[in-house]
Amino acid sequence: MKTTAAANANIAVIKYWGRRNEELILPNNNSISFTMDSQLETLTTVEFSEKLKRDELDIDGKTATEKELKRASKFLDVVRKMAGKKMFAKIDSINTFPKAAGLASSASSFAAMAAAASKAIGIRLNEKELSALARRGSGSASRSIYGGAVEWLAGVKDDGSDCYAVPLASYEKWKDLRNVIAITNSHEKKVSSTDGMKITTRTSPLYPARLSSVEKRLAVVREAIKENDFEMMAPAIMQESNNMHAVMLDSTPPVIYLNSTSFKIIEKVIELNDSYGRPVAAYTFDAGPNAHIYTTKKYEKEVSEILEHMNGIEKIMVCKVGEGVRYLEKHLF
Ligand code: PMV
Repeated sequence: MKTTAAANANIAVIKYWGRRNEELILPNNNSISFTMDSQLETLTTVEFSEKLKRDELDIDGKTATEKELKRASKFLDVVRKMAGKKMFAKIDSINTFPKAAGLASSASSFAAMAAAASKAIGIRLNEKELSALARRGSGSASRSIYGGAVEWLAGVKDDGSDCYAVPLASYEKWKDLRNVIAITNSHEKKVSSTDGMKITTRTSPLYPARLSSVEKRLAVVREAIKENDFEMMAPAIMQESNNMHAVMLDSTPPVIYLNSTSFKIIEKVIELNDSYGRPVAAYTFDAGPNAHIYTTKKYEKEVSEILEHMNGIEKIMVCKVGEGVRYLEKHLF
């Protein structure tokens, strides 16, 4: 059966950086994110067929590279094994935003692919199982199954059976939250997050300190999400981003994703917060130089205006918090 699913990217406020199991994609720490609205969306249609000799993948209207196809096939192998079937699949995938530019396209891609592929092959999964499956494609994809605020539980079991995401708050509860995104470079990143996190966990002397300090920030953010209190979590969001990029820089060779514009944005956000005497905005950066500035509806315009006056920014987008994975009637082929 041909099946189409849509999923949105999520942007973490407490980050995943480092795995305890590479094959199963089990992280070293819990992470928390907000799922974005449909401006950061992937649509994916999957159809399995006895007639195909290999998996076929199109991304944004073009035949995928061998590397992209290999990654998708490895993921589909997990789905085939779950279903006890051997058929190959045809997949069409469309992103509404530049892929691999630190805008978390792997999260929306694998969340949409997990939902479409599992249904297309005939297996019924609940959200927890779907999250665990999406995790096998890309760790952060486990969180995009749900809308709103989401926590990915690292779990402790070797088989990964306790490693999946859970919803913390609905998107309606966080309808006033905004992510003002400044694209400072829309090209594909040079070091993939998989490679970057391997280098960090193997070589950074500061990495163990990150793992012990992240627990405190997780607790603060969880509480702030429960209380619907942006200012409570804003300092922890910025510390968390600084901490992750610090262990990246502490790695050998150093893993550097931020550029000079990213640092100028950091300074501007600090100045803005100082001018109010409280944190009205919080920056966070993933494995890329693009800034995600979380703020509230009230300060969205002011943050955007600051960015509009800066050099080195290609595009500014304002995202709201959005919904989780969903199935669509209309197919891409
Ligand atoms: O799952 P990946 O390979 O997209 O890794 C994502 C890692 C970060 O975006 C840097 C942090 C996170 O938790 O999303």
